[in-house]
Amino acid sequence: MTELSPSLSGMRLLLGVSGGIAAYKSAELVRRARQAGAEVRVVMTAAAEHFVGSATFQALSGNPVRSALWDPAAEAAMGHIELARWATQVLVAPASADFLARYAAGMADDLLTTVLLASAAPVAVAPAMNQQMWAHPATAGNLQRLRQRGVSVLGPAAGEQACGDVGLGRMLEPEELVDALIAQQAGDRLRGLRIVVSAGPTFEDLDPVRFIGNRSSGRMGFAIAEQAALMGAQTVLVAGPTALPTPPGVQRLNVRSAEEMLRAVLDQIDAADVYVGAAAVADYRPVAPRSNKIKKAAEAIELKLIRNPDILATIAEREQRPFLVGFAAETEDVLRYARGKLEAKKLDLIAANQVGLPGSGFDSSDNEITLIWADGEMALPRASKRELARALLEQVAERMPTRDNND
Ligand code: CTP
Repeated sequence: MTELSPSLSGMRLLLGVSGGIAAYKSAELVRRARQAGAEVRVVMTAAAEHFVGSATFQALSGNPVRSALWDPAAEAAMGHIELARWATQVLVAPASADFLARYAAGMADDLLTTVLLASAAPVAVAPAMNQQMWAHPATAGNLQRLRQRGVSVLGPAAGEQACGDVGLGRMLEPEELVDALIAQQAGDRLRGLRIVVSAGPTFEDLDPVRFIGNRSSGRMGFAIAEQAALMGAQTVLVAGPTALPTPPGVQRLNVRSAEEMLRAVLDQIDAADVYVGAAAVADYRPVAPRSNKIKKAAEAIELKLIRNPDILATIAEREQRPFLVGFAAETEDVLRYARGKLEAKKLDLIAANQVGLPGSGFDSSDNEITLIWADGEMALPRASKRELARALLEQVAERMPTRDNND
């Protein structure tokens, strides 16, 4: 079984730590970033050293920590320009009001600001300060300048502060910062692509109050749409009936029946580069739905059902077709049936999962899937639907024929 590759693998993270009580949380940040696969080097400002010892960061990052610009031994080992070039991502956490002012002004009066000026890597800052300092127009102006220069500003959060105040100014939690870095790292993978995702169940009406539905929660498809948007794709989500919230940055189209879903998907398909059919589309619908409620009169009634159109197969028949991804939810002989569907529906990729197991499948937030394509397959270990969605989209990016994946 393939391990899900850590989400920050390949990232060389330069973590700047400036002076603030939140600096202690940055130790945990280093640990989590490394766990996620990043290589980490820490640069501390002089003020930061009042809050946390450099030995902590050195032990956790596994690399020497630097703080002074004028340190001949450290410069001989790795010069500050070399350090600036080494980084593929810079994060300053905590970013104090003073640091933000110096960085916004383009100063180079200590090692951290000098490295920032000399680096071409994307920069994120996680401000942490007293709420009054955060609200000050000087700080707001500095932040605006930084945003205009393409710096991403992560947080701050609101809450109780070390000084006893309550308000905006708390540094985001290490976990949230690592998530933001993951999103940033993934940002370009699907940029320029348009992805249509179908999700959820379909409801086939019998009469105005009854329908035939299924147990799909829509979570897997929603997670795919969420991650696709984070990875830079223009994302359209065609959603069957579900109460799930729309993921940020995603255009949602609500539908009810299989026929409605087919129409909505076809409307979008010409402009799409990828279609992911994650919906549990009803295979049959009532032949003649009643316009009035069916009354309880007869002892037994018969229900005649007719086949619904197959959305994936319909798209596969088109001359201009996007990259097609399907799902196969099976209760037995999972891989064999899934490969059969891959071939029968002429898909590029299918995600197979066993339903009916406790703790995975429809209602669960976890799942276990195997990705199958014409000449290969990859079993993904049990993980959250969000992580599986990422891994699936990474494979889509990998297998899309027209893209150069090394850029
Ligand atoms: N699918 C579709 N349109 C349908 C039925 C299914 O696009 N009318 C898609 C689903 O979104 C999924 C894939 O086909 O991506 C497989 O769906 P599944 O229900 O597992 O397979 P079926 O083709 O319906 O076959 P069966 O129910 O016999 O297993």
